[in-house]
Amino acid sequence: MGKSTAAARLPRSKGTDMATVYEPKDCARKVRHLVLPGQNRRIVEEFMTILEMREEFDSHGVPIPNKIVMYGPPGTGKTLTAFHIAASLGLPLVLVRLDALIHSHLGETGSNIRRIFDYARSVPCVLFLDEFDAVARTRESGDEVKEMARAVNTLLQCLDEFGDGSVFVAATNLETELDAAIWRRFDTRMTYRMPDEGERCNYIRLLIGEFACSEDAEASAAERLCGCSFADIEQILLKAKRKAIIERAALSREHVELAYREYAPEPAERKPPRPAEAPQPVELI
Ligand SMILES: Nc1ncnc2c1ncn2[C@@H]1O[C@H](COP(=O)(O)OP(=O)(O)O)[C@@H](O)[C@H]1O
Ligand SMILES: [Mg+2]
Repeated sequence: MGKSTAAARLPRSKGTDMATVYEPKDCARKVRHLVLPGQNRRIVEEFMTILEMREEFDSHGVPIPNKIVMYGPPGTGKTLTAFHIAASLGLPLVLVRLDALIHSHLGETGSNIRRIFDYARSVPCVLFLDEFDAVARTRESGDEVKEMARAVNTLLQCLDEFGDGSVFVAATNLETELDAAIWRRFDTRMTYRMPDEGERCNYIRLLIGEFACSEDAEASAAERLCGCSFADIEQILLKAKRKAIIERAALSREHVELAYREYAPEPAERKPPRPAEAPQPVELI
């Protein structure tokens, strides 16, 4: 389907499109270096296999899964996985803009949720709702309780009526605050965590690629960047590469050390549960 058809019918709110549409080839370009831990890789692969066997599943009367929830700390690959799924399915990724979705006027948020789900039902796509907890918080907590309760109820209905022409993917940093009824609506759940040693080494190797580096650069980076998220590792190595380029030198332990100190990632345990900044833009390049 052409971009224009998909984009033309996107619902709008507050004077802007309620979502950004990425064509499958744009999605593929963003996920060249995805490191998926074993369990999540298996979940994604099985998910793809099932969608390819749609007719067999229909003939057995077994519904296909198409609602995925991902939870875990920031910078561990949730958004990237959504792009990967869209690219693999050859479907556009419809990335919902939370700022446009959530509205201060009573009832508007619910009606926006309905409109974006209607859109996703009419156009085969991967509908991606990041920072899902902003909409799906437990109905008992927080301010504006009534308004959010209504939005959650609308979301429940939309999930039930979603059909199977599109895939819904939701991501959150806060597993515990999700409404239990919402939680049950998902047929596929994936947990994300900080990279372990093997994943960190793999990722660093991927990022360094063909870049000239001294003998100990890779190993020292793997040690120094222990505790960092994938996103932190990526940013620190980019900084380190820039330093090496400026000096016209091979990437060294010192470049990584300096870059690490300048970047100064917060230790994971001291990170606030929910970042204060606005909904994450797609920082994938
Ligand atoms: N598992 C991963 N494999 C490869 N790169 C990753 C991974 N996780 C994060 N990154 C890098 O960090 C960036 C931000 O990751 P993102 O998927 O947005 O994290 P999250 O959605 O979990 O906060 C990605 O664009 C990518 O460059
Ligand atoms: Mg994200």
